[in-house]
Amino acid sequence: MKKIIILVLLFLIILGIIFLFFFYKGKENESMNNNLGDVDLSEFNNSNFNFDRKTVTLNSGYKMPLNGIGTYSLTGDVAYDSIRSAIDSGVRLIDTAYMYGNEEEIGRAIRDSGVSREEIFLITKIYPSQYSDPEDAIEMALEKLDIGYIDMMLLHHPGDGDVEAYKAMEKYVESGDIHSIGLSNWYVKELEEFLPQVDIVPALVQNEIHPYYQENDVIPYIQSLGIVVQGWYPFGGRGHTSELLNDETIVEIAENHSVTSAQVILRWNLQKGVVVIPGSSNPQHIKENTEIYHFELTDDEMNKINALDRNEKHDWY
Ligand SMILES: NC(=O)c1ccc[n+]([C@@H]2O[C@H](COP(=O)([O-])OP(=O)(O)OC[C@H]3O[C@@H](n4cnc5c(N)ncnc54)[C@H](OP(=O)(O)O)[C@@H]3O)[C@@H](O)[C@H]2O)c1
Repeated sequence: MKKIIILVLLFLIILGIIFLFFFYKGKENESMNNNLGDVDLSEFNNSNFNFDRKTVTLNSGYKMPLNGIGTYSLTGDVAYDSIRSAIDSGVRLIDTAYMYGNEEEIGRAIRDSGVSREEIFLITKIYPSQYSDPEDAIEMALEKLDIGYIDMMLLHHPGDGDVEAYKAMEKYVESGDIHSIGLSNWYVKELEEFLPQVDIVPALVQNEIHPYYQENDVIPYIQSLGIVVQGWYPFGGRGHTSELLNDETIVEIAENHSVTSAQVILRWNLQKGVVVIPGSSNPQHIKENTEIYHFELTDDEMNKINALDRNEKHDWY
C-alpha cells in the first residue's frame, strides 16, 4: 500500500513538473508576441518575397520592391540624373537619408519623372544628431522631399534619444505622413533592447550585407521577428567593389549564367531574402542592376558564395 502511495505521489510530481514547464514556455511566447503586437511571424519572412511581382509585403501591410537604388554619395545634378535614369529603367525603390544631403534633388526627380507617386517607394532616414528634436527632423524631410508622404523612415543608427525619435515616427504613422518605419544598423543585441520599448514593430532593418560580410546570424533573427532585411554596400561599398566583383568564385558563377558579377551578388541577396539597394550613377549599371530575375542560383552556387564570408565589415557602423 505504502509503495502505491509513493508511486502515485511520484507520478503527480512528474505531472506537475511537466505542467509547469509548458506553462512557463507559453508565458515566454506570450510576452514575445506582446512585443510584436498581433503580427503573425510565420507570414513575414523571405518566403514572402514575390519574385513575379518583384515585391515583398511588409508587416505594415505595404508592398516594397525587392530591388532599388541607393543614393549615398550622389549629390546635386548627379543625384537628380541618377534617379531619373533609375525610374526610366523601372526602378521603383529609392533609398536616401538626411545625411546624404540629396533629399531635395531626389524629391524633384520623382516629381519630374511622370511616374505616379503611388508607384514609388521612398526610404529616408533621420540621423542621431536629430534625435533630440525628431518632429523637426521629420517635418524637414517631408518638406525637402515634397512628395506628400514618406513610404519608409528609418533611424540611421542607434544613439541617444533613439526610442523617443522612434516614438515620434510612430505618431507620423498614425497621421499617415509616414507609411512604415524601421531601423538601420541595429543588430541582435540592439534589437533585443529596443523592441520592448516601442509599439510598432519595425517593418525593415537595413544593415551592411555583402559576400565578405554576410551577417548569417543576424538575418534569420531579424526575419524571425517578421521584419524585412535590406542590405547596404551590396558590392562592398566604394573602394571595395573591384575586389568583390572580380572575386574568382563570383566571376565563375556569373559566367555560368551569362550575367555579371554584380547581378550574381544581387541575386544571391534576393535568394537569402535580402532586399537590395545598389548605389550607382551610371545608367548602364543602374539598368543592369534591375536585370536579376531571369536566372536562379543553384544551392551549390549559393553555398559557394556563403563560403566567402570573412566577417569583414567595410564601415564602422
Ligand atoms: N544605412 C546605412 O548606414 C547605409 C550605409 C551605407 C550605404 N547605405 C545605402 O546603401 C546603398 C548602397 O551602398 P553604396 O552605394 O555606398 O555601395 P555599393 O552599392 O556597394 O557600391 C556602389 C559602387 O558600385 C558601383 N556599381 C554599381 N553597380 C555596378 C555594376 N552593375 N557594375 C559595376 N559597378 C557597379 C558604383 O559605381 P557606378 O556609379 O560607376 O555604377 C559604385 O562605385 C547606398 O547608396 C545607400 O543608399 C546605407
